[in-house]
Amino acid sequence: MTFTPVLSAGWGDADSFTLDGYTRRGGYTALTKALSMDPDALISLVKDSGLRGRGGAGFPTGMKWGFIPQGDGKPHYLVVNADESEPGTCKDIPLMLANPHVLVEGVAIASFAIRASHAFIYVRGEVTHVVRRLQQAVADAYAAGHLGSNIGGSGYDLEVIVHVGAGAYICGEETALLDSLEGYRGQPRLRPPFPATHGLYGAPTVINNVESIASVPSIVLGGAEWFSSMGTEKSKGFTLYSLSGHVKNPGQFEGPLGLTLRQLLDLSGGMREGHTLKFWTPGGSSTPILTAEHLDVPLDYEGVSAAGSMLGTKALQCFDDTTCVVRAVLRWTEFYAHESCGKCTPCREGTYWMVQILQRLEAGEGTEEDLATLLDTCDNIFGRAFCALGDGATSPIVSGIQYFRDEFVAHMTGKGCPFDPVASTVFAGASA
Ligand SMILES: Cc1cc2nc3c(=O)[nH]c(=O)nc-3n(C[C@H](O)[C@H](O)[C@H](O)COP(=O)(O)O)c2cc1C
Ligand code: SF4
Repeated sequence: MTFTPVLSAGWGDADSFTLDGYTRRGGYTALTKALSMDPDALISLVKDSGLRGRGGAGFPTGMKWGFIPQGDGKPHYLVVNADESEPGTCKDIPLMLANPHVLVEGVAIASFAIRASHAFIYVRGEVTHVVRRLQQAVADAYAAGHLGSNIGGSGYDLEVIVHVGAGAYICGEETALLDSLEGYRGQPRLRPPFPATHGLYGAPTVINNVESIASVPSIVLGGAEWFSSMGTEKSKGFTLYSLSGHVKNPGQFEGPLGLTLRQLLDLSGGMREGHTLKFWTPGGSSTPILTAEHLDVPLDYEGVSAAGSMLGTKALQCFDDTTCVVRAVLRWTEFYAHESCGKCTPCREGTYWMVQILQRLEAGEGTEEDLATLLDTCDNIFGRAFCALGDGATSPIVSGIQYFRDEFVAHMTGKGCPFDPVASTVFAGASA
């Protein structure tokens, strides 16, 4: 199985991240073409391509752009969500590191399409090396006349600002990101009104993921039909799948939507020697875990949802037979408790108490009642929290208990983890 890379084309070149390297590979010709088009025709092109947001929810990108009211006399903004903080998600950072210019070119095209004269790239604070690379790319694009005033003699002006976040997972949630960008504490906003009409500084705003925007230049050059010829019926195009965990060759694998984990493991060399797949996340820790039974599920929005999870960010974290599911679920829950912004009670209180219970369970001090309380707490968070962080926090717990209840029970009856060499002695003794 071989694929022709688009997003990752040129990543192996020594100068993949420079303006020269990008220009040599045809970079910025899509911008020239886009600037000769009608902005509405660009929005239609992206709609027809079937591109869906790669930030997790899979919302159609062209439709989102089409929501921006035109002729309203207000400034419009494009905001790129480069906060990438979901556990397991690791595609936007390598993309920006290897080829920041494809994002910058996509930003210019998208901003022109929605008639924005200011765009922001909100990057997570911890990745200083990526921030520097993006800042350099933006400066080089200005110097080459791809950004700034009268771009390419078209009369179109665009200012692009690289904004560095302070490293909070919640600032990846689009409305919390807007608050953070405006200088407030990053906490989600009530919707409606939606960012399309009341976004940054109360003006119409499009917020898109890095990979969504980086896919746009190739759509402008290749056309909607070319893009939609890849993928599945409702999940079109190519994407970056991120393989991590107990696999032989972790990394980014680009291919059409709808590949299966089995195919990706074949491509990447499989699980590490002598071990088998136990469980995996299709799209980061907020998406319910799946097991080896699901190796042939098509990795598109519909296929993964039919299997009881979500495609999310295609962050395929693979855990082998040495992993304690209780411990993994505890670690994820500690993350959510730490990152909960505290705005709403179900998530703020619920994540704290779920950590307490999971710690007890992991230490071999849990009871059946604890399992019931965990599930009941998840039930009280899911659908009742103010934003999707709360829902995401319940995913590892509910799916972990669904597929590995016996392992949770083994921690109670065995008074510890059956995978821990010391505890397993106790466990073996207790069950004898
Ligand atoms: C807690 C939380 C964290 C999120 N983090 C990110 C992120 O780091 N990057 C991202 O693109 N989307 C993230 N999202 C999704 C965004 O809210 C939003 O849906 C996305 O940026 C839209 O872009 P897209 O339509 O191109 O996918 C997050 C959502 C939640 C609830
Ligand atoms: S669900 Fe969690 S992160 Fe979201 S608003 Fe409520 S407390 Fe904040």
